[in-house]
This record gives sequence, structure tokens and C-alpha cells, in this order.
Amino acid sequence: MKTDLRLPKAGTIEIAPSILSADFAHLADEIAQVESAGVKLVHLDVMDGHFVPNITIGPPVIEKLRRYSKVVFDCHLMISEPAKYAQRFIEAGANHITFHIEAEKKPANLIKKIHSLGATAGVCLNPETPVDAIKDAAKLCDMVLVMTVHPGFGAQEFMTDAAKKIIEVRKIVGPAIRVEVDGGINAETAPVVVAYGADTLVAGNAVFAQKDRPAAIEAIRKACRQKQ
Ligand code: DX5
Ligand code: ZN
Repeated sequence: MKTDLRLPKAGTIEIAPSILSADFAHLADEIAQVESAGVKLVHLDVMDGHFVPNITIGPPVIEKLRRYSKVVFDCHLMISEPAKYAQRFIEAGANHITFHIEAEKKPANLIKKIHSLGATAGVCLNPETPVDAIKDAAKLCDMVLVMTVHPGFGAQEFMTDAAKKIIEVRKIVGPAIRVEVDGGINAETAPVVVAYGADTLVAGNAVFAQKDRPAAIEAIRKACRQKQ
């Protein structure tokens, strides 16, 4: 089911809880808990067991969840051949599609396609991928995603060197495009990446592994405010 939800305009710090650390047997309820904390987007990690060594969810799950949620579905495709599947995810209710530059030879074409299907588009780079690889595609996107862990699993350690690439990415895209960061974000690392220029913070373990999800989100927000 398609919705009119759009990514919030750049210029605000947004927390995007990643459902990877949520209870997959109660996903709608889990998302409702973070919605009650006022998040504007939730991060849905899609893994195919090929591009990354793990498998998660696909369009049927997103389609069912869409009925229960009123926030932007920020869909992170950790899959091979993203161009083949992007449409299915958008039709299921994804509002934003991020694909990996390592998985797509014609990023400009895919960004165009995602836009023509009514969603916003993002390109993502792995920790070992140089910023140069997304230089041209980044400017066509609505949000660029910088990985600060190797994609595939939650609760990994934050990679400081990978995070430094945010500075370079922010220089390329300017203030109007969101820069998202994914991997090891918590109240300690969030202010660091915000200082580098990130404005959209994915947090899996730091939110869903905690009992009180709204309190966990507020702790990250507070840590960012204190450093600003
Ligand atoms: C990892 C995923 C992340 C993951 C982050 O491949 O893309 O979105 O959920 O988890 P944390 O925040 O626990 O590092
Ligand atoms: Zn992710």
C-alpha cells in the first residue's frame, strides 16, 4: 500500500529506530512503541543472504506493517540487484529506498526509477567503500547512508574511521540532502556523528534492546542536544 509520507526535510536531527533488534514476532507493536516517542521514520533492514550473510524481511512483511504505522518507512536494501526489487518494496509501502552502491552499476538510473515510483532515494556505502564511489549519485539522492559497521547484523561495534567519511559526504551534498548513519549508534556515538554532519541516526540495539524504547530514544536525542 503506497502512502504520501515523505522524508522530513533536511535540517532536523531524526532518530530512525532499526527494527533489526526488535521482536520480529510483534513488529507492529514494536513500531507503535517508537512511534509513541515521536519518531518520524523507522528503518527497515532488508537482507537477502547474498549481498550480506543474513536474511530478514521482504515486501510481504512491509505491506502488512504499513497498515499499522503512520511513519516513513526507510527501507535499507542490503540486497543484490536492487533495481529488480525496488518497485515491489515501494508498492508494499516503503517511502524511502536506500540501495548499496556496491550492488548497483547504474545508480543514477535506479535513483530516477525510485523517484518516478513516488519514493525518495538513497545510496549507501559500506565501511571499506571510498566516498568517491558515490560522488555523482549522492547529489541525485534525498539521503545518503554511511555504514559505520559491516552490514548484516545488529549490535556491532561503531567504526570510527568509517564515520569520518560523513564529513566528506556532507561536503559533497551540502545542507539540503540528509546524511544518515547506520551501525553502533547510541547516546555516546550519536553526538560524534552529528558533529561530523549526520542528521539521521539509525539505532537498532540502542533502542530495541532496551526495555523503555521512548526513554532510549530520548537519551540519544538529549546526548545530541547537549553537544550542539
Ligand atoms: C546492519 C543494519 C543496521 C542495524 C544497526 O546491517 O543495517 O540498521 O540494525 O544496528 P545497531 O544500531 O544495533 O548497530
Ligand atoms: Zn540498516
